[in-house]
Amino acid sequence: MAEVLIVKNKEEAGALVAEHIAAKVKANPAFTLGVATGSTPLPVYRGLAAQAEAGVDFSGITCFALDEYVGLPAGHPESYRAVVDREVTEPLGLDVARVNVPDGSADGVQTAGERYEEALRAHGGVDLQLLGIGTDGHLAFNEPGSSFGSLTRVKTLTEQTREDNARFFDSIDDVPMHCVTQGLGTILRAGHLVMLAFGEGKADAVAGAVEGAVSASMPGSAIQLHAHATVVIDEAAASKLKFADYYRHAQRNKPDWQGI
Ligand code: PGA
Repeated sequence: MAEVLIVKNKEEAGALVAEHIAAKVKANPAFTLGVATGSTPLPVYRGLAAQAEAGVDFSGITCFALDEYVGLPAGHPESYRAVVDREVTEPLGLDVARVNVPDGSADGVQTAGERYEEALRAHGGVDLQLLGIGTDGHLAFNEPGSSFGSLTRVKTLTEQTREDNARFFDSIDDVPMHCVTQGLGTILRAGHLVMLAFGEGKADAVAGAVEGAVSASMPGSAIQLHAHATVVIDEAAASKLKFADYYRHAQRNKPDWQGI
């Protein structure tokens, strides 16, 4: 099962995960970080920016984003390319060429999945993949029903996801209908999965992912199949976990040498 770490708030989560990533980058400057979008990973990016300001050199890392909307005009501020550049590429001083995002352009969409899989394979995969979870249990944009063996491909967003994401756009009509997303099979190839979730709205999805049946109906439950998955959540997101007391007990007694 995944290791569950229950922290006070998102700032603590961000600092904890950023510190871990910074240590990995110091040990291996060519580290490969899988980045996620949405509001959940932002505290991690703030933590990484603080590490960069404190002198950690991130310039040798490579990033792969999980997903991209289809059909937004190039440079659209809510395209995931723009979000990742704003939140990660620029604050960490990365060369934009080292930051990979699936091609969501209308012209490239038919081959975008295969090309992204090839880029991941040629690079040698992802060392640590940051993940959020949708209120409907999606991982990246793998909506319920996605195969655990799925690779990067075009998906249709659920209406629930479009509603959740409408806050980033003027109206729900502006939220794209399709995306290119890494598959669950792609995500499961990363060396270490770090899933974050904050707030009561995520409590059901977290409980389903961590303790529910492993099922394509709950894409988040794919993390149960991974040998090294860490779930970092606040009290509200942990509020529906049956074994929360055990997770706290394990956390209090966690060997210092172990890291996350
Ligand atoms: P959020 O989205 O971080 O904006 O809540 C998470 C997700 O949809 O995976």
